Amino acid sequence: MDKKSILFQLAFLQFLSGFLTFNSMNVQIRCLQIERKVLLDFKQGLTDPSGRLSSWVGEECCQWDGLTCNNLTGHVIKLDLRNPFQSDEAGHQESALRGKINSSLLYLEYLDYLDLSLNDFEGSQIPGFIGSFRSLNYLNLSHAKFGGTIPPLLGNMSSLHFLDLHAFSDSDHLLNAKDLHWLTGLSSLEYLDLGGIDLGSVVNWLDVVNMLPSLLELRLQDCNLQNLPHSLPFVNFTSLSVIDLSRNLFNSPMPAWLFNITYLEDILFSASNLTGPLPNTLTNIISLQHLDLSDQFLEGLLPSSLGNLWKLRSLILSSNNFSGNVIEFVDSLSRNNSLEVLDLTQNKFYGELPVSLGNLTNLRSLVLGQNRFWVHCLRLLEVCHPWKP
Ligand SMILES: *[C@@H]1O[C@H](CO)[C@@H](O)[C@H](O)[C@H]1NC(C)=O
Ligand SMILES: *[C@@H]1O[C@H](CO)[C@@H](O)[C@H](O)[C@H]1NC(C)=O
Ligand SMILES: *[C@@H]1O[C@H](CO)[C@@H](O)[C@H](O)[C@H]1NC(C)=O
Ligand SMILES: *[C@@H]1O[C@H](CO)[C@@H](O)[C@H](O)[C@H]1NC(C)=O
Repeated sequence: MDKKSILFQLAFLQFLSGFLTFNSMNVQIRCLQIERKVLLDFKQGLTDPSGRLSSWVGEECCQWDGLTCNNLTGHVIKLDLRNPFQSDEAGHQESALRGKINSSLLYLEYLDYLDLSLNDFEGSQIPGFIGSFRSLNYLNLSHAKFGGTIPPLLGNMSSLHFLDLHAFSDSDHLLNAKDLHWLTGLSSLEYLDLGGIDLGSVVNWLDVVNMLPSLLELRLQDCNLQNLPHSLPFVNFTSLSVIDLSRNLFNSPMPAWLFNITYLEDILFSASNLTGPLPNTLTNIISLQHLDLSDQFLEGLLPSSLGNLWKLRSLILSSNNFSGNVIEFVDSLSRNNSLEVLDLTQNKFYGELPVSLGNLTNLRSLVLGQNRFWVHCLRLLEVCHPWKP
């Protein structure tokens, strides 16, 4: 071989390697063989009638449906196998994955995000090994028909920011917890939904939640909760912006600690057996946007300072025993123009609805039935009724 052709070959090789390096920057991230094997074992444990995992073949697992890899290391960081169909949609049943979650999944040790919601695990227990995912940030097992007692081992996921275990409660409560102490291990938690889970035998739920200072959303709807302590020595979860305690069995007044959380935007407490009046301290919650206190045993006059809640967008007080003349209250509300929904149905309010109601120009829904109101002239609706009851 002469020098020239050697040089040529070298140049060609150099070109080739340059091409390869250049290309590898664009090439899809390589899947790690061990993780690929783990995923195939996991797939094997599941039944998949609609073939949602049919792309799970071949070498490049980073391109399989539902998977995301870290684009530098190739480690699987996200596994999103949420059923694309809601539980009331046709196609839900067929698309639900069933079967067993293989514990070898733990080899995906960089997993950050796991969503198995809306699948059908047929009443089986939430596997305790999930608690050993140390870098998990997001865990969504909602509406996935897990049953039995929540394993306290879940409290080992100290990096977790989102925990959604919301269960179906239309049948019987499938999931339950006897104790929530394990939650205190989740010190970074920002979002917690245990809706539909039977927490009827948990007495200190509030003390536990009070150990979660980063919490922004707390959803404990329909949990058979009975104990709503009126006061707390110290309110830790002051960043909270959403609290949903609807459909529980409290049988107690609005708790005083609630009014110390001034960043609250949504208070959703419908049908939870609250009694007594709505305290004036409600207007401490200056960020309040949505207040739903429907279907309770609340009574008395409404705080006339309610109008100071200038961010309020919906006020739902239907089916209570609130009473009094609404003139002052509606006048105060009409100073704030953000209100979109006002529902006062089925109470004992009375009085002539003031013309100032017409100042609520953003109102989309106004429901006032089953009270003792009368109207002379409601400019908002451009109707005038000359009758009085
Ligand atoms: C790698 O991933 C990060 C975070 O997901 C993203 O911001 C970045 O754009 C990605 N880089 C490339 C080259 O795709
Ligand atoms: C969890 O999944 C459900 C159903 O797929 C979804 O509606 C919900 O918003 C998810 N939760 C979070 C915290 O993202
Ligand atoms: C859970 O965490 C505790 C304390 O950090 C540790 O002793 C225990 O081994 C962990 N359990 C599992 C199953 O990882
Ligand atoms: C407030 O939260 C911190 C951090 O979780 C905890 O150590 C402390 O005991 C909590 N205080 C109360 C009164 O629960």
